[in-house]
Amino acid sequence: MDNLKLISDYYHFSEVFDRLIYSKKNQNNKKNSFENLKKEIEKLSTIYNKNINNLVFADGSKNANLMIIGEAPGSVEEKMQKPFVGDAGKLLDKMLSSINLLRKDTYITNVVNFRPPDNRKPTTTEINQFFPLIKKHVDLIKPKIILLLGSTALETFFNKKYSITKIRGTWLEIQINNKIYDCLPSFHPAFLLRQPDQKKFSWVDLKLIRDRLAKINSVYG
Ligand code: URA
Repeated sequence: MDNLKLISDYYHFSEVFDRLIYSKKNQNNKKNSFENLKKEIEKLSTIYNKNINNLVFADGSKNANLMIIGEAPGSVEEKMQKPFVGDAGKLLDKMLSSINLLRKDTYITNVVNFRPPDNRKPTTTEINQFFPLIKKHVDLIKPKIILLLGSTALETFFNKKYSITKIRGTWLEIQINNKIYDCLPSFHPAFLLRQPDQKKFSWVDLKLIRDRLAKINSVYG
């Protein structure tokens, strides 16, 4: 009897040990993948030929269900090396808190990870250089939902012209590496700062996100 208990304890502990090693390996692999992605993005650092070309990689939790993708960093973001920390970012924080989310519960990045000169929109050629990298980024996070802020993020993933006014608030699907992601296009907070009367539509979209996340949490716990 004692022997049997010893054997069963042995198998139990070796299984726990194997699982610990496996999860540590997975964490290390994931860490390496993020570091590799950062290095790949860094290779594009000369794209804008400016004095400062700080990489603005991402902010938030790598385990987030919600990934938020904007266009490109502005000057405050470039200085702080964090996405969405200027005026548009402050509004984004408020938008998130209106549906009881903190930025640390989400994962935030941009299509383009360096600030274009004079805060201009990135060109199609520039976006095409970053596109494989933002796809890798999504593939590493594997979010349950993607919130695409503004027409640049939307058109990057769907490779066609859209009217953000018409399509916002409509769930769309994108496939990356054999996985389908649910995406919601919505107004960019910088646009909402210019046109505050449009916030009512943004609120509709935020509630869609809130309800979808609640459903996901009830299924995945
Ligand atoms: N606008 C964006 O699209 N991204 C940022 O990080 C800041 C402003």
